[in-house]
Amino acid sequence: MQRQLIQTASIWRDGVDLPTYSPLTTDLRVAVAVVGAGIAGLSTAYQLAKRGFQVAVLDDGPIGGGDTGNTTAQVTCMLDKGYAETEQLRGADGARLTAESHMAAIDTIERIVRDEAIACDLARMDGYFFLAPGDELRTLTDERDASQRAGLRDVALLSSGVTLGNVRLSSALRFPRQAHFHPLKYLVGLCRAIEGMGGQIFCGTHITRVNAEAIVTLETTDGPAIRADTVVLATHMPINDALGYSLRIFPALTYVIGLHIPTGSLPNFLAFDTADPYHYVRIQAAADHDVLIVGGEDHKTGQADDMDARYQRLAQWARAQFPMAGEVLYRWSGEVANSFDGLALIGPDLVSPNVYVITGQTGIGMTHSTIGSMIVADQIAGTANPWAELYAPARATGRGLGQVVSEGLNVLSQYTELLKGGDVASATEIPAGSGAVVGWGPTKVAAYRDDRGVLHRRSALCTHLGCVVAWNDSAKTWDCPCHGSRFDSYGTVINGPAPSDLSPAEE
Ligand code: FES
Repeated sequence: MQRQLIQTASIWRDGVDLPTYSPLTTDLRVAVAVVGAGIAGLSTAYQLAKRGFQVAVLDDGPIGGGDTGNTTAQVTCMLDKGYAETEQLRGADGARLTAESHMAAIDTIERIVRDEAIACDLARMDGYFFLAPGDELRTLTDERDASQRAGLRDVALLSSGVTLGNVRLSSALRFPRQAHFHPLKYLVGLCRAIEGMGGQIFCGTHITRVNAEAIVTLETTDGPAIRADTVVLATHMPINDALGYSLRIFPALTYVIGLHIPTGSLPNFLAFDTADPYHYVRIQAAADHDVLIVGGEDHKTGQADDMDARYQRLAQWARAQFPMAGEVLYRWSGEVANSFDGLALIGPDLVSPNVYVITGQTGIGMTHSTIGSMIVADQIAGTANPWAELYAPARATGRGLGQVVSEGLNVLSQYTELLKGGDVASATEIPAGSGAVVGWGPTKVAAYRDDRGVLHRRSALCTHLGCVVAWNDSAKTWDCPCHGSRFDSYGTVINGPAPSDLSPAEE
């Protein structure tokens, strides 16, 4: 059966029954307020409730409405930067603690799924790290040796290639006991467990300000305030930029397609390759077929306008590797928060010690978010955690300084947009269902014409630090090229660090 329409939302949003929660309507006093109802926030609320804390979770959107719903949900210890580079950046002890914490996160997810009886398709499997064309086998042997030094002694080199079903693939490292799951079904189970322990969840509640004193006050758009002994910001990018997180985290957009394959034509597996940017692959079962999920083609947020070509290249790559891959059923994009050393930033904000952050989860957000929940819950409970120092938000950049400098220069270059003209000379050139930047300098306008032809105008200056946003015609969003804030077509903020919506445009 041929499907006519490609789904432009992620496969996880197809048919899942997510719980809904009302906005906060009155002031609230709670022990711990967690901002963000994705995997980081809900995992943290779960860990805290387990430790006996009174928790409330707040989100401006629905459950899993952010990038947890756009991930491919590999639950893995296979790092974006690999163990060889992590050893260089963080030393032998750092690499060992990184491996230990990620394997513990996989075990923790498995335990929560079992204890809470969460039906989220969790499965264990091998993960593969493939050699991309043109790369040398040395890349794999170096990574194998570093992985084993980090404690992953079962990592093996398959130098003559890997066979998956009828497909023969290139040389690879095999990482045993990795996993994948359905991320939104997992969140459903976490919500149920949190409520079962007396936790509260509020959606449609946008936090506008974090006033950190002995008691932290969270202000909201609609008026009610939350007072908490401790606050955890699990919002992809922190909404308080107190430590200059935007100088340490470098957002990128990544693209994903889901292709039809016959049921059982490939075994369950997950994989990454050594290309830069890398490809990533997994399988998800559907009713009468399987879906081959392939991602990659990353670029810095707000700094590309060839999204259709990126989706096409992904499909070409997938069919070259996996000849049974048929039509594209799904395509979507998500934002990845990369950090200067490839590890998440987790722990207390030093400016506000009773405010905690979980951010910079890189391309393996399921494990990084789970590690974040374990560290932060321990820290709030006053329990020592062996990984806290490794992931501390204020850690020295060390050998990651070079990336911080080059990313900073990239940001500065984006401000030259203020000296240029817009994308089009007049809003009359904007077709229905599309957007463009119009005008000059600081009066530039982000103009969106909806499907009925009505024009919506907002200031094109990002409410974080004033960069000019760029129209993303694939996702129908305004993306900031400086630190990755994203706004919907009408200028409502989706991802920080921007604290608020795009301002009304001057007439
Ligand atoms: S995200 Fe920093 S200026 Fe837009």
